Amino acid sequence: MPIQIIRTDITKLNCDAIVNAANNSLLGGGGVDGAIHRAAGPNLLRECRTLHGCETGQAKITGAYKLPCKYVIHTVGPVWRGGQNGEKQLLESCYRESLKLAKKYECESVAFPLISSGVYGYPKDQALKVAMDVCSDFLLKNDMLVNIVIFDKAAYQISEKLFSDIRAYIDDHYVDLHTDSLYERMLREQCSQILEMDECVAEFPKLAMPLADSFQLEDNKPSMAAPMQAQQLAPQMSLDEKLGQIDESFSQMLLRKIDEKGMTDAQCYKKANVDRKLFSKIRSNVHYSPSKTTAIAFAIALELSLEETKEMLMKAGYALSHSNKFDLIIEYFIQSGNYNIFEINEALFMFDQSLLGM
Ligand code: APR
Repeated sequence: MPIQIIRTDITKLNCDAIVNAANNSLLGGGGVDGAIHRAAGPNLLRECRTLHGCETGQAKITGAYKLPCKYVIHTVGPVWRGGQNGEKQLLESCYRESLKLAKKYECESVAFPLISSGVYGYPKDQALKVAMDVCSDFLLKNDMLVNIVIFDKAAYQISEKLFSDIRAYIDDHYVDLHTDSLYERMLREQCSQILEMDECVAEFPKLAMPLADSFQLEDNKPSMAAPMQAQQLAPQMSLDEKLGQIDESFSQMLLRKIDEKGMTDAQCYKKANVDRKLFSKIRSNVHYSPSKTTAIAFAIALELSLEETKEMLMKAGYALSHSNKFDLIIEYFIQSGNYNIFEINEALFMFDQSLLGM
């Protein structure tokens, strides 16, 4: 996925470039600025001195020295003064100018902290939205892996109500390890059917007999084995006939749904945060099987119902499992008709699950 939200220390990332939330002097400070300078060593400061500062909203690039990445892009975010002083435009410019520099230096991957959302006081959820919007617009025309690095949970102000609703949904539906496995449940159901059938034959021999005719009966009662015999009696389809009945594939269903929703391919894969190359692979290969996260991202982008989502996942070989919290949270949002990728990610983040890209 071209935009990933990850929770880590940006100084540990070995992507091509990491972005520093610096101040106008570019001579270091606290927060992520301090962490980057500490990890890079004194040569970073030495090079920064040659840059003679940086305007707010602008960006400059240096080497990375002891850091695992190749470059450090220093940008200066706006100080938050209530949101009516052009802060959003300046913050957008930070991301845009940094991405321009990353492209100029042929970076294939870049990582941003949430610029201005620490010392400079920009509300974290709004800072995240600006980051996602500018980066996803850039990725419509460019190929690059963009990581938005969240360093602390405060970045997600999930509402208490939403959190408790999801908590309750998980508790109600979570199938943990010591409940019956699917096989045990199916076996129990099959046995109870056989029992019913026995009772049925005993109770209504006339009714049951035609049925019994098609079974080899043991002492006049259908047995567990009977269904197997019944299957043996059913005319066997040839493999070719079976293969001739192959269902619509994942990729065929995806393209059909895009048309039904009146979306363009680009609108869909951008909303699903899937890059153009991957989408064209799916479009050109009718049997392409995507990752589960990608399949779910498309279901969210297309705003499919839960049944349609399960159908689409099944075509890619997956299911939504009640023993998987990630799946339950996705199911909760689809059931509530909430396809807001930010709220979904906030919830996934709060429950320590991996996130869907944008
Ligand atoms: N990795 C990733 N993110 C980090 C890290 C880290 N190691 N350390 C802090 N952050 C996050 C913070 O949690 C915050 O969300 O970076 C975001 C930006 O916070 P700040 O570093 O405080 O930057 P900013 O709000 O833009 O203020 C810039 O602070 O450090 C000084 O010199 C800097 O004067 C400048 C001002």
